[in-house]
Amino acid sequence: MSETNNSSSGSRRSFLKKSSMGAAAVASAATLNMGKFAHAAGTRETVRIGLIGCGGRGSGAIQNALNASPQNEVVGLCDMFEDRLNFCRKTLEAKKKDQTKVTDDTCFLGFDGYKKLLDTDVDVILLCTPPYFRPMQLKAAIEAGKHVFCEKPVAVDAPGVRSVLETTELAKKKGLSIVSGLCWRYDYMVKDLVGKIMDGYIGDITAIQENYLTGLLWQKNREKDWTEMHYQLKNWLYFHWLSGDHIAEQHIHSLDKAMWLMGDTPPMKAYGCGGRQTRTDARFGNVYDHFAVCYEWANGVKTFAYCRQQGGKIFRETDDHVYGTNGRAKILGNQIIMNDKVAYKYEGERPNMYDVEHVALFDGIRNDKPINNGVYMSYSTLMAILGREVCYTGQQITWDQMMKSENKLGPDKLEFGDIPVPEVAMPGQTKFK
Ligand SMILES: NC(=O)c1ccc[n+]([C@@H]2O[C@H](COP(=O)([O-])OP(=O)(O)OC[C@H]3O[C@@H](n4cnc5c(N)ncnc54)[C@H](O)[C@@H]3O)[C@@H](O)[C@H]2O)c1
Repeated sequence: MSETNNSSSGSRRSFLKKSSMGAAAVASAATLNMGKFAHAAGTRETVRIGLIGCGGRGSGAIQNALNASPQNEVVGLCDMFEDRLNFCRKTLEAKKKDQTKVTDDTCFLGFDGYKKLLDTDVDVILLCTPPYFRPMQLKAAIEAGKHVFCEKPVAVDAPGVRSVLETTELAKKKGLSIVSGLCWRYDYMVKDLVGKIMDGYIGDITAIQENYLTGLLWQKNREKDWTEMHYQLKNWLYFHWLSGDHIAEQHIHSLDKAMWLMGDTPPMKAYGCGGRQTRTDARFGNVYDHFAVCYEWANGVKTFAYCRQQGGKIFRETDDHVYGTNGRAKILGNQIIMNDKVAYKYEGERPNMYDVEHVALFDGIRNDKPINNGVYMSYSTLMAILGREVCYTGQQITWDQMMKSENKLGPDKLEFGDIPVPEVAMPGQTKFK
């Protein structure tokens, strides 16, 4: 073993320590220490992973991270609730026994659990909690010198997006990775089709239509000993302060593709309509069940974005329709159509995109080429928030107005107990703030 390998653990720890130093010293220290870390990792050093948010996606994401390299280990878990954490831990111990090194001392619960996990010697953090918590947890993770996998959306309001943009810059200075859970950007077929369209295969883009027309999701019944905070956390999808509403929580996958096709340039303005027709019961919190938004770019191109979460026999489609001067494409439908005939289909290999994004994250760390998806994940999140706000208020709102918004969602204090139930927004009455 080389000298570097013998002291690999020390090198890694000193890298982590130094990456939480003040901004002025950060750039040079990061370069120096990334080199040490990458060298050690490149010789198959273990990379230690912590998961924050052990629910459905978190339990999947941690397995994707472990699939990325046999030298990756999960060493710590954090969740708000013990049952979720224990279920995730047991699943990992059954499915990924050799790579699971979680102990009772490295399991953390509650609102501050993430701070305790960040205080341990994990190298990489996966952020898979409801979106409201993302800005604060991402900031803390980067300040603590951790590389991050960050689920979408990254915020529920403009102050949150601005915080994520600042953290993105800090991560760049520190040489730390932020890989986004906007997973379609890592899908081989989608990358190929978007690339072809951006290279002019169908001429200039004239319009995009994004559909996420789908059914109902899970909902949990209130239990006797639950406070209102407990209920809202367990049913986070239905409270706009926690999820951003489904235009942000789910339709962001489509909006992100439109933003990508437009060269990651934000739209100038938007207007739209939406409401709740089928999910009117109080158990569904304050979110809408449908949105239809028109986004307009400076060059006149428009994206018409429809999303719906309703049950029963209704038309369902999740696809991206792109119209150009010479043809059209359906991205998830894998078709480029010219003169009414399929002119191109992707036929290459198509590994699981969730694995691919983690391979990219860990390869970047090991090869000293950290990936930073922070800007596009923030812009796509703001695009979704803009769509929500034009529908909630009934106003036309510009990107600049949205980016400057001071409307901070969520309760004053994060603690279990009584918190307000947010009102359902009413266009024409709900004010843009
Ligand atoms: N990229 C994708 O395709 C994809 C798919 C599904 C979900 N997601 C995203 O992943 C995130 C999680 O979604 P999910 O489906 O796993 O939800 P989930 O409810 O199954 O899991 C969320 C977990 O976070 C925990 N939690 C809540 N607040 C917390 C806090 N402050 N600290 C620590 N833990 C906390 C919950 O107890 C729960 O176990 C969401 O942002 C969602 O949009 C992305």
